[in-house]
Amino acid sequence: MNPGKKPADSTEIKNCCAAAYGNDAVALLLGESYHPGGQTLTERLADALDLRAGQQVVDVAAGPGATARLLATRYEVQVDGVELKETTVATAQETTASAGLAQTVRFHTGDAERIPLPDAEFDAVVCECAFCTFPDKTTAAAEFARVLRPGGRVGITDITVHARGLPAELSGLAGWVACIADARPLDDYLAILEAAGLRTSHTQHHDEVLRSMIDMIEARLKVLRMATPDRLTAAGIDVDAVLTYTRLAADAAANGTLGYALITAEKPR
Ligand SMILES: C[S@@+](CC[C@H](N)C(=O)[O-])C[C@H]1O[C@@H](n2cnc3c(N)ncnc32)[C@H](O)[C@@H]1O
Repeated sequence: MNPGKKPADSTEIKNCCAAAYGNDAVALLLGESYHPGGQTLTERLADALDLRAGQQVVDVAAGPGATARLLATRYEVQVDGVELKETTVATAQETTASAGLAQTVRFHTGDAERIPLPDAEFDAVVCECAFCTFPDKTTAAAEFARVLRPGGRVGITDITVHARGLPAELSGLAGWVACIADARPLDDYLAILEAAGLRTSHTQHHDEVLRSMIDMIEARLKVLRMATPDRLTAAGIDVDAVLTYTRLAADAAANGTLGYALITAEKPR
């Protein structure tokens, strides 16, 4: 995880993002949920989607599956998680089986831009802190629309960037690892969803959760550097580079350049 390195093309961007989040050290830094706001914001998203027992949900870019398991237990829905990185899918499957949820939560290795699930079968699609990383957001949004039944809803939480864009020093660093290099203003996300036939029903700003997450990562990195420096080195984390980056990101979050938003949109009946 070297924030100074930049990927070359869209396949490399996807693989870099998946590799970064597949790194064991990420769980130490982020905890169970790999998105700002954690489980609390996932519950707000599920409530905004009005999830009901027995519904079928797709979790796109599911990571190790914390959201899929939470939705299955708290909202009694069936979840199909789709995740690019095979080893992350294996971890998600193992953790889910240990939790006794293998009957209700399944995981598939696959790309958000080519979701390996059938047309028009799902009541909801959730996608947390990942839409911003998809190089082809238009195709991913069309895939969300394809798998939803008419009347189904998509719920996204994601990083937003002010219309003035990212400061050069931030986009020139590890923007792609931290999922901000191709983050967009909220209105751009809505326009992409709209173009895929998904009508916005609801938006909320949650900028504070991004600030808290950056602060938490900084604090945990500093503690880990003191307590277990070898573990970070073994995980390939360049602590100084990451701390430089998180400071810049914290400034951008404090001055409103970066934010975090919740969006729901509906596929018309
Ligand atoms: C920031 S993590 C979010 C994980 C999860 N949604 C959560 O909130 O805990 C981003 C995840 O997206 C996955 N990912 C990135 N690009 C993807 C793609 N094109 N298709 C599927 N998964 C992707 C990464 O492997 C990583 O697990």
